[in-house]
Amino acid sequence: MAERSSSGDVLMTITEEQLETGLRGYPVGYCVTSSVDPQQGLFYQGYPVAELADWEPEEVIYLLWHGQKGDREEISAFSLEIEKRAHLSKELEQQIALLPRKGNPMKLLSIALLLTGMLEGKNNYREDALDLVAKIPLVVAKLIRHHAGWEGVFENRPELGYIENFAQLLSPPGMKGEELTRLFKIFNILHYDHGGGNLSAFTGKAVSSGLEDLYGSIAAAMSALAGPRHGRANQDSLHFLEGFVARLGPEASLEEVEKEVRSIVEQHGLLFGFGHAVLRVEDPRATLFYRIGQEQYGKDPLISMALKLRQVVPPILLEGSRVADPYPNVDAISGALLSAAGFPYPAYFTLLFGLARCVGIARQIIYERCEARQGKGVPIYRPKFFKKELKKS
Ligand code: MLT
Repeated sequence: MAERSSSGDVLMTITEEQLETGLRGYPVGYCVTSSVDPQQGLFYQGYPVAELADWEPEEVIYLLWHGQKGDREEISAFSLEIEKRAHLSKELEQQIALLPRKGNPMKLLSIALLLTGMLEGKNNYREDALDLVAKIPLVVAKLIRHHAGWEGVFENRPELGYIENFAQLLSPPGMKGEELTRLFKIFNILHYDHGGGNLSAFTGKAVSSGLEDLYGSIAAAMSALAGPRHGRANQDSLHFLEGFVARLGPEASLEEVEKEVRSIVEQHGLLFGFGHAVLRVEDPRATLFYRIGQEQYGKDPLISMALKLRQVVPPILLEGSRVADPYPNVDAISGALLSAAGFPYPAYFTLLFGLARCVGIARQIIYERCEARQGKGVPIYRPKFFKKELKKS
């Protein structure tokens, strides 16, 4: 089987062995927001993502939305637009406050998104996408405070800035004000998008191809993000690090860490935070987070363990050349950094990932629904599955 592009070029030859491999690397379409290069990592509109870490979130969202950097006036008009849309109705707030607190936070997020669409949706992809970008920090802050049972309500103040308002609405106990806000900004920017084929983006676009509205499509995308092989990996990686610190102590030597890693490998255990479907180098998002960790929180036990694992794991994984990518990905360090900066709540790490990723997915959905194929949009997704007999039991 060979796929042909309109220019007639063969983009990929698919052999039978590649069936049931999760569509790994199959050409599907175009991504107008970002790209992932196996050797260089993530780019937003051609900018290496590490270069954007010091931008304001509104500037980066503008870049993803419009395909180019905004000038001062464009950014202030765009920021004002987001600010105007950043409110939730009383009814929506009441419904969020009724969600079952024993539920998994990511499931609550999907439900909250469906509720937002039901109560505030406009059934217009462009309008809903911008509304969603503006409202999602409010929804996530409300959800976390409700789920965690933190008392008190903070006034919505979108004029403070996109993430500034999120941080003050969230106000986790013992909030390290500016320090945490700054890290939230970087975390948010680095997680907006990761090319077109990651599972949550793919799912959101697939669901929208049936002409489900923006909120329903993003709710599905968030369910895709919730799994441990995708967004929940940041939470699991943190627990993995905690396990190392608990077993070896915070002062463990590199040799002790190496011995422990080898024993996990021998028992075919998982090394959380290492490897990536596309990257073949250390994830540049991880590189940036390691640098912040080293510079600002080098003495924190989880950060120092993450730094040791960064040294120890890749050479071991390279030994048997068993893995295509032995290097750390963003999840290897992001959770440790959030904890060190004053947000030690792994149960909500995937929500923070989702809060950011909604931005890129929403923009990708606008492209596929309203812009692709001269505005006709991409047809309903319908890949082919071959017939196979069930094994008789
Ligand atoms: C990521 O942010 O690393 C992704 O969403 C995972 C992927 O690209 O498949």
